[in-house]
Amino acid sequence: MEQNLKEFTIPKGYPFEGKSLDILISEKEIKDRIAELAVDISERFKTEKPIFIGVLNGSFLFYADLLRELSIDFEVDFLKIDSYGSATKSTGTVRLLKDISANITGRHVVIIEDIIDTGLSIQFLKQRMENAGPASVTFVTLLFKPDVAKLNFPIDYIGFNIPNRFVVGYGLDYDQKLRGLKNILAFREGDV
Ligand code: IMP
Ligand code: MG
Repeated sequence: MEQNLKEFTIPKGYPFEGKSLDILISEKEIKDRIAELAVDISERFKTEKPIFIGVLNGSFLFYADLLRELSIDFEVDFLKIDSYGSATKSTGTVRLLKDISANITGRHVVIIEDIIDTGLSIQFLKQRMENAGPASVTFVTLLFKPDVAKLNFPIDYIGFNIPNRFVVGYGLDYDQKLRGLKNILAFREGDV
């Protein structure tokens, strides 16, 4: 995936206009991988009615694109957490900014994340969900940084493993910016 990365120049009118980033994962690759994940997840839950919990903000595009590809019925809910103190570094503590509203006791819960970096957020979410006594908790993430993440449990569905670089686009932000770009883009060394 790292070989011969194509370049993307941030268009006029956007923050960082004119800056070049590497296209780590293209729009087409995202779409194709989501189709594969949707088949696997639909198969896994074909006899259940899972509740998909989107982790705001970063997962909103992935969440919508994945769920519309499923061939099963489901319920939706959302929560919002924050672990990034500065624009690109985890603070080491996770804060719950918005909680789910559904009662998940006895339910099959599927957590949808945009990216697992240190693993702190997903660890926090696992603990929080399990405290409510669900029938099962399944973890789905679009992106995973295997060289950084420290986890003592497996992630059930991973879209892409990526190198330890800061990425934006397709819902992911730099300081709340650039979420609308369609590819997954990596800033170059020293740029952020
Ligand atoms: P963790 O708790 O360190 O695993 O970080 C998880 C959260 O940090 C993600 O849900 C993102 O919101 C944010 N994050 C981590 N890495 C990146 C990145 O490369 N770009 C944008 N956001 C990131
Ligand atoms: Mg996030």
